[in-house]
Amino acid sequence: MLVSRLSSVFYLLFILLFFSFSSANGAKKEKDLLRHVSAEECKTCHEDIYSQWEGSMHANSTALKDPIHGAFYTAVVGSPEKEGVKKNGKYPICLQCHSPAAAKDGKTDLTSNEVYNEGVNCVSCHTITRFKGTKKPSGGLRLGMQAYAFSDTSLQGPGTNHAEADWEHPIFASSANPEVMKTNAVCMGCHDKRNNSNKVALCQTGDEIAVSGDSNNCLGCHMPIVNGKADHSLLGGHSAKMVGKGLVMTLSTLSKDAKTLVVNIKLANQLPHKLPTGAPFRNIYIKLTGYGQDGMVVWTSTQSHPAKDDKKAMLMYSLGDAKGDPAPPPKATQVLGDTRLKPHETRKLKYFLPAAKIVKVRAVAYYDLLLPPMKKKFTKPEHEELVTSKIIAVAEKIIE
Ligand code: HEC
Ligand code: HEC
Ligand code: HEC
Ligand code: HEC
Ligand code: HEC
Repeated sequence: MLVSRLSSVFYLLFILLFFSFSSANGAKKEKDLLRHVSAEECKTCHEDIYSQWEGSMHANSTALKDPIHGAFYTAVVGSPEKEGVKKNGKYPICLQCHSPAAAKDGKTDLTSNEVYNEGVNCVSCHTITRFKGTKKPSGGLRLGMQAYAFSDTSLQGPGTNHAEADWEHPIFASSANPEVMKTNAVCMGCHDKRNNSNKVALCQTGDEIAVSGDSNNCLGCHMPIVNGKADHSLLGGHSAKMVGKGLVMTLSTLSKDAKTLVVNIKLANQLPHKLPTGAPFRNIYIKLTGYGQDGMVVWTSTQSHPAKDDKKAMLMYSLGDAKGDPAPPPKATQVLGDTRLKPHETRKLKYFLPAAKIVKVRAVAYYDLLLPPMKKKFTKPEHEELVTSKIIAVAEKIIE
């Protein structure tokens, strides 16, 4: 009895020792590769940059963290918590941009290593040595990590802290790589463009800028220097304040005759890319209201939503199927229309109102992450923020 009990105790000890050794070895191996270094490690010394990044969509880009990406990923690809998931028989392309570390390892279970669920983390950008371009010689697209060469042993930095020639990163090997880290190159692998499997263009911010011929650097607007350091909040569509910076909306009126008041709304896109840019379902719409004495609403440009009854006030990208009916991004086979503001475009919207009753007109521009039909899929209380239209600009005028 005693012998067998002792031997089972030894057996147990042996197993424990074996596993602790093998995991210690595993951990050491992983530590050797920069791709497996967690943002938590950088946090110890770069606390303010870490907290900016932590609140950004880069830190929340995975299917387990971003409910909108998660809904699409699960529907189009499968579970983000299973290994070996394939799309059309291939490794899911989404992870090349939404979870770079998982893509480098060829893994699909985002819970199997903490860095996978960190999304676009510090080392996703700070190991890029070169941007290869998104066009394959064969004509196809190289996306996300495929578009970059990267190092697994040396951090890449802008070189702004290399004022003294002998500066070295205190814990990692490092290189000053301003050609990548201070130019659009660092963003383009993931933000240039992307097609669905029917070759219909979905996101195309980089292309928009190329067409605009504007050499503006993404970093100037998206990573301004705040308190002496590059801001890593990387604001975009999830910040109404940021979207509002892109649009200047003004309003002018003229009385055509005693009966008609003509209102001109001028929309001016301040940006070198489209407004709105990015995901194909981002949209902006404008509502005009005429007020009478006592602040009573006497006229509105729309009875429900401009998407239904005032299409000129709807800035959106429309995707469709072969029959020309609206289709969601993964299924679209053609572009039906694109009424978003082009880079630096100025556009006028003209309205005719009943002059007699109106003493004030007011135009409000709203931004939405999702198109109205898609909002119905996000009904949980925690999704409220994602489905609420945000005011991004207001213009008004008192009629003399
Ligand atoms: C989306 C890509 C991206 C991610 C993610 C990212 N960085 Fe950066 N980081 C950059 C770029 C680009 C610069 C250079 C900006 C410049 O010089 O204008 C930079 C600059 C820096 C600098 C120098 C700051 C300065 O201005 O002196 C530090 C330090 C840094 N990053 C740390 C981090 C840490 C820590 C994380 C993760 C918490 C992180 N970065 C995540 C792209 C990124
Ligand atoms: C032990 C402290 C420490 C840790 C941990 C640390 N850093 Fe740094 N890092 C520094 C110091 C100090 C500097 C120089 C001054 C500064 O920028 O704050 C620096 C500078 C940088 C720079 C600017 C380099 C340049 O070219 O200008 C980058 C980028 C950077 N770190 C990225 C990272 C990333 C990514 C991690 C995590 C993988 C990390 N650091 C972890 C201390 C640390
Ligand atoms: C490794 C791929 C990758 C790189 C490199 C990268 N991004 Fe991103 N970026 C993403 C992904 C993925 C998202 C979307 C996350 C989501 O909404 O689920 C995103 C989101 C954004 C957003 C939108 C934020 C919002 O509020 O919706 C902005 C702005 C942005 N990135 C700017 C940049 C800039 C500027 C650079 C270059 C300094 C850059 N990114 C580099 C992958 C990348
Ligand atoms: C002149 C300033 C400016 C420059 C330059 C600029 N952007 Fe933007 N960007 C903005 C503003 C403002 C917004 C918010 C309005 C919008 O979403 O269209 C924005 C939005 C975005 C978004 C959010 C899309 C989404 O779906 O949420 C992405 C991604 C983005 N920009 C990437 C880039 C990239 C990549 C570059 C460089 C090639 C770049 N931007 C250059 C100002 C700028
Ligand atoms: C080339 C890089 C890239 C690839 C590949 C990619 N995405 Fe994205 N995705 C982005 C970027 C960048 C954004 C955010 C900025 C924008 O809107 O352009 C984004 C945003 C999204 C959004 C909107 C998220 C939000 O917060 O509103 C969804 C949904 C999405 N992607 C789904 C997918 C799915 C599903 C796949 C794979 C079938 C995929 N993406 C492949 C780069 C990519």
